[in-house]
Amino acid sequence: MMPVRDHLAHLIAAEGPLSIAEFMRTALTAQGLGYYMRGEPFGAAGDFVTAPEISQIFGELIGLWCVATWEALGAPSQISLIELGPGRGTMMSDALRAAGVRPAFLEAAQVTLVEISPVLRERQREALKGARVGGLAWAGGFDDALPADRALILVANEFFDALPVRQYVATDRGWRERLVEFASDGAFAFALSPDPVPQELIPRAVEDAAPGAVFEFAASRNALATRVAECLVRNRGAALVIDYGFSGPAVGDTLQALKAHDFVPVLDDPGHADLTTHVDFDALATGFAEGGAEVYGPLEQSVFLQRLGARERLEALASRATAKRREALEAGFARLTEPAQMGSLFKTLVAASPGLLPPGFAQHERR
Ligand SMILES: C[S@@+](CC[C@H](N)C(=O)[O-])C[C@H]1O[C@@H](n2cnc3c(N)ncnc32)[C@H](O)[C@@H]1O
Repeated sequence: MMPVRDHLAHLIAAEGPLSIAEFMRTALTAQGLGYYMRGEPFGAAGDFVTAPEISQIFGELIGLWCVATWEALGAPSQISLIELGPGRGTMMSDALRAAGVRPAFLEAAQVTLVEISPVLRERQREALKGARVGGLAWAGGFDDALPADRALILVANEFFDALPVRQYVATDRGWRERLVEFASDGAFAFALSPDPVPQELIPRAVEDAAPGAVFEFAASRNALATRVAECLVRNRGAALVIDYGFSGPAVGDTLQALKAHDFVPVLDDPGHADLTTHVDFDALATGFAEGGAEVYGPLEQSVFLQRLGARERLEALASRATAKRREALEAGFARLTEPAQMGSLFKTLVAASPGLLPPGFAQHERR
């Protein structure tokens, strides 16, 4: 099968330069070729490590958050529990184990894992082999995951950062879209669209940015948020998004490629490096609000996890651990919560059906 870089080169030869969004989407998820479709990128031997892979406490607290949300919804006898982009299935596995404190929740939970990668679906199947839940299924996209009439709890850790964005660049001739072309030396290179970007796509707050400034627009992210919110309003429920990002609108080129735990040039090795951008939580919140949901946050990950009892869980686990294991638990906890590590850059945003106060948030934190 042809490598994804050849596929991208053919696409450019046939159709002209690609938007950053098209480049990202193809490099990450092209059928049988994309980064997520072929391999398993997680862990020390892979390209990056995510919170559930760092500490079991992360998934366990998410599980308790799901139980508390289910209780706040009146403990319905059936609930859709959807995870977007479950990776190796570690978070859901830890979450369901912790949620075992309420067996009725597990019985009610119709779990759907939204995963595009066949390789990762297999990992998830292994991770959840022993799970005793009301139902367990897979879907390729959110729209295939949801039956019409059940309350919904949705969780997504480091999913939205993988969705494609467009990049617009300020120039002294106005805003232009950043594109990817195939240069004569056989390498991918950035280019600018000859046509101006429609003015309504650039927010007022950034429109006068200096030449060279980049504004990122994540249409598919925002549209997904709106569709999730419409379901929340129709069926009741809450969606918890955890990711790295900022509150926009703001300029900044956040497109990054990670390979073997190092940043590499973003166009160098499509299909063999993870490509992501930071999530604009303000834009995401607007997407949720457009679907009618009430939005809480963003709250820093460290604050959210501590409110859910991260320290108490650490102490409980540490009290019956060997010295070596205790050290590992404490290191994992520090990595998730220290502001200089993941504690501040990572944030949590919750969209809820009207009138539902999501666990971990106070009423005044509603946007
Ligand atoms: C960075 S990983 C995060 C994995 C996991 N949530 C964790 O925290 O370890 C992104 C996940 O989203 C999946 N994914 C990426 N784009 C997707 C898409 N468009 N539709 C469905 N799943 C997607 C990937 O295959 C992977 O499972």
